[in-house]
Amino acid sequence: MSVTLQKIVSLAKRRGFVFQSSEIYGGLRSAYDFGPMGVELKRNLMDEWWRSMVHSREDIVGLDASIFMHPKVWQSSGHLSSFSDPLVDCLVCGERFRADKAPRLAPGADAPIELADKGRAKAMLEKLQGHGESQLERRGKILHGAKAGERGYVCPTCGAPLLSEERQFNLMFRTFMGPVDPIGKVIETVRAAIEGGAGEAAIRERAEAALDESTLYLRPETAQAMFVQFSNVVQAMSPKIPFGIAQIGKSFRNEVTVEHFVFRSVEFEQMEMEYFVPPGEGPKYLEYWKNERLGWWQSVGLKAQNLRFRRHDQGELAHYSDGCFDVDYHFPWGWDELEGIASRTDYDLKAHAAGSGKKLDYFDPQATDPATGKAGWRYVPHVVEPAAGATRGTLALLVDAYHEEAAGQTGKGERTVLRLHPRLAPIKAAVLPLVKKDGMPEKAREIVEALLEAGVNANFDQQHSIGKRYARHDEVGTPFCLTVDGQTRDDDTVTIRYRDDRRQQRIPTGEAVAVVQEALRC
Ligand code: GAP
Repeated sequence: MSVTLQKIVSLAKRRGFVFQSSEIYGGLRSAYDFGPMGVELKRNLMDEWWRSMVHSREDIVGLDASIFMHPKVWQSSGHLSSFSDPLVDCLVCGERFRADKAPRLAPGADAPIELADKGRAKAMLEKLQGHGESQLERRGKILHGAKAGERGYVCPTCGAPLLSEERQFNLMFRTFMGPVDPIGKVIETVRAAIEGGAGEAAIRERAEAALDESTLYLRPETAQAMFVQFSNVVQAMSPKIPFGIAQIGKSFRNEVTVEHFVFRSVEFEQMEMEYFVPPGEGPKYLEYWKNERLGWWQSVGLKAQNLRFRRHDQGELAHYSDGCFDVDYHFPWGWDELEGIASRTDYDLKAHAAGSGKKLDYFDPQATDPATGKAGWRYVPHVVEPAAGATRGTLALLVDAYHEEAAGQTGKGERTVLRLHPRLAPIKAAVLPLVKKDGMPEKAREIVEALLEAGVNANFDQQHSIGKRYARHDEVGTPFCLTVDGQTRDDDTVTIRYRDDRRQQRIPTGEAVAVVQEALRC
């Protein structure tokens, strides 16, 4: 049975994985909150990443940088000038959209415009004809006669080719630090500029300049901190090249198009690592990291057939990159990016060295300087960066794990189950007293306490019938349910039920912790 995004969104809300931000106030379109199950799943994913990147390797260290950075960081990195999307307004329905993502027609092709209903189509026809679009005619709620322009693209909502000019829209969120009144400053500056007879462009420039002193940006990627702190890390840790600096943290982008639930949101969590290598070794390590990363996504449970690489074309490469692969995942709407693995050359370290006036290089006493042929080589390292999304990764885990099983011949057994990797599951073991009497709840609590003490996230659950409890835990992906029943008092055993095949087995109560721990090790 195919998984639709709607089913994932519904399960996510019903079972406490993801909620719309500020829902009781109507929600914020592009922001989400991870609920009690979602926060566990996302943290487990991030812990796995940290374990594989930092704790299980000697060549990578961690960093936890602040979200606010000096505004010059974004100037040097190129984000202020180039981190933008081409934005266009539809002159018919008012939709604002990204030109590079809009549907395209052949230039000059018919472009029917679809309005919500006949009344609106009639009113719009009159308005457009009044603006010189006399070739248009109406059939029902559709206006015919418009042609796609040279740019080819049309409005994704109504199909109109009647569009504004493209504007570059910077994706960084801007805010202000300190006890300033930015609005007051702008009013003052604009008033003076108007009195001085300045034109619109000059007024805007002066207003921007008035805000500059206090402007800060919410970081759009975690990566820049690793470049800016490069020297401090080298001095503090004396790492031997090649080495990496890893970070997990929030990033923010004022995305023009927010789409597919948490896939593209304005606030999201990234897991990024900058791997510093000698000049000329970028391609070798790009190949190495691309394979490592694909393997890692499989190790956290994503199926191999739902993952693939996509090489970026030359024209698609970011301003800092000379080679890039995406790890794509097969989401319900098709293949889309889960992680980018880029060769960033020496662009960032050189840009920050130029911007700050501080040297950002590395001295290798054992290497031979190719220019002089002598021992000892000082150079600006090149960088290979695996940059993954934890928010997007959590969505991929939910999609991959989601299964609906039809009822058996008896009509029983229909269920929805999340087949999450046991290490990623929010709850590892649920302990269920069959009934709320005969000492069963007390025994179940003892087992929960033993599991918690052993570091296993366990859950005591005595609400509703045993069948409903199994169903609930199947839906949140709990791999093991331990049931305390009448026999427990007689022979000190419990039933362990395995989520994936619903197999049940009796085990001694004293072995419950070890059995669960062993299963989690795989
Ligand atoms: N430092 C490089 C960098 O940030 P990116 O491809 O723009 O590269 C890396 O982002 C990853 O961050 C993406 O593969 C994706 O998983 C995640 N990501 C980027 N924008 C996102 C958004 N608006 N919402 C959710 N995740 C996003």
